[in-house]
Amino acid sequence: MKVARVLISEDEIQAKLAEMGAAITKDYEGRDVLMIGVLKGAFVVMADLARHVRLPVETDFMAVSSYHGGTHSSGVVRIVKDLDQEIAGRNVLIVEDIIDTGHTLKYLLRTLAVRKPATLSLASLLIKDDVERPHFDIQYEGFHIPNEFVVGYGLDYNEQYRNLPYIGVMDTDSTSSPTDVQEGFKLAE
Ligand code: IMP
Ligand code: MG
Repeated sequence: MKVARVLISEDEIQAKLAEMGAAITKDYEGRDVLMIGVLKGAFVVMADLARHVRLPVETDFMAVSSYHGGTHSSGVVRIVKDLDQEIAGRNVLIVEDIIDTGHTLKYLLRTLAVRKPATLSLASLLIKDDVERPHFDIQYEGFHIPNEFVVGYGLDYNEQYRNLPYIGVMDTDSTSSPTDVQEGFKLAE
């Protein structure tokens, strides 16, 4: 597989995160925020979004797995790494890279709500359109994208491409080659 084209550029991502960070800063004024990143995909969004929030911020990470490689969600979610701290009484903001089938979030929202945070909100850089999923309130939305498999900016295909600075669409017709990642960087220039 190769990165076929850039869907969202580095500049567009940064501008959007600045907007989302400003909205979070406004909404949580006078409170502290515990941002919870969903590993591994959200580590890049988390790093950039957290720096756009001008408030006392703590960060924690959770790893859940619903994917077993490849491009299709299995629907089975399990906790691979739990939070390091209690969230009771905290203002929790879940930070996601992408919402696809919603399996991950449905599970996470249920699991975290039981722990009685003061507030529980959601920020996601990407939301896939035309996917049937349970309804969630997404307080901080980045981009709505078509139902295509994307990589970059934290998102992987078989653990590769997470470090691309943009969001790219995979070309699902071509076969894999070791030069693919390099090709992806060339696209970015
Ligand atoms: P869900 O289907 O909403 O549960 O999404 C679960 C996870 O699948 C996301 O957090 C991503 O890590 C991954 N994922 C979903 N769609 C894509 C994609 O287009 N590219 C890469 N990873 C994806
Ligand atoms: Mg993820």
